[in-house]
Amino acid sequence: MTDRYAVIGNPIAHSKSPLIHSLFAQATGQDIEYAAIEGPLDGFAVAVRGFIAAGGRGMNVTLPFKLQAFDIATDPLESARLAGAVNALKFEGDRIWAQNFDGLGLVNDIQRNLGVSLAGKRVLICGAGGATRGAILPMAQQRPALIAVANRSADKAHDLRADYAAHATLQTGGYADLAGESFDVVLNATSTGLSQAELPLPAGVFAPGALAYELVYGKGLTPFLRQARAAGVTQLVDGVGMLVEQAAEAFEWWRGVRPDTKPVIERLSVPLI
Ligand code: ATR
Repeated sequence: MTDRYAVIGNPIAHSKSPLIHSLFAQATGQDIEYAAIEGPLDGFAVAVRGFIAAGGRGMNVTLPFKLQAFDIATDPLESARLAGAVNALKFEGDRIWAQNFDGLGLVNDIQRNLGVSLAGKRVLICGAGGATRGAILPMAQQRPALIAVANRSADKAHDLRADYAAHATLQTGGYADLAGESFDVVLNATSTGLSQAELPLPAGVFAPGALAYELVYGKGLTPFLRQARAAGVTQLVDGVGMLVEQAAEAFEWWRGVRPDTKPVIERLSVPLI
C-alpha cells in the first residue's frame, strides 16, 4: 500500500514540499503519496490526528503550527527540543516523533552545496525569531569562531543568549552594535525577505569574500541581498537549498533512503535578479 505523508500549514497553497517529496520519491523509487493540508487555525491537533487515523505515516509542519507540533509530540528529539519548534513528525502506533530539520538543512546547504566551511568563521544571524532559534545549535556544532545575533529588538536577541547559554556562546545586540565588526557569513533570518524593509546594517558588516544568505526562497533579490550586493558581496544565495536539504533530512528519516538534492535544488531555483 502507498504510504501517506503531507505538509500541514496555513496558508499552504505556496508550499513546494509536495513537489520536492514527489521528486525525491520518483528518484529513489519510493512508493509514497505526499499531500498539502491547510490546517484550521484553531484545529491543528485534530487535523493531525485525522491524518494519522487515515493511515498517515509522517508530516512536515510549517507556519503557524511549528510550536503546536511540539506540544502534540510524544517523543520530541533533540533537534526539536533545542529549537523549541518542530518541522517534521513521524507516526508509529501511538507515538508521535518530532524533529526540526530547518537548521541542519541550512548548515548542509552552506557547507555541502555552497562549499563554505563554518569552522573558524565569524557568523552573523540577523533576526531573533523562530528561524534563528532553529539555526543556532546546528551552526554552533560546526565550531565557528563567533555567532552574533542582531535583532531590531535587542532584548529578544539577549533572551536567545540566555536560552542557549548551555549550548552556544552568542554575541547579541541591536544592529547598531555591529558597527566596526565584519562577518564571513551573514544570514538574514528576519521576515524582511517577504517585505521591502531593509535592515539597518552598518557599513563593513560583510567581510571580503563573505557569503550573504537570505533564508526566504524564491523571492529573487530581496532587500537584504540587494544591500549585500551593494556592499560588494558576490556570493548571494536564497533559501532554496535549505528548503530542499531539510526536506531530504525528513525523507531519509521517514524512508531510510537519502535522496540526491542537487537536481531538485536546480529545478526549484529562481534567478536572483
Ligand atoms: P520567524 O519564525 O520567521 O523567525 P518571527 O518569529 O515572527 O518569524 O520573527 C521575525 C523576525 O524578523 C524578528 O527577528 C523580527 O524582529 P523583531 O523581533 O525586532 O520584531 C524581524 N523583523 C521583522 N520585520 C523587520 C523589520 N522591518 N526590520 C528588522 N527586523 C524585522
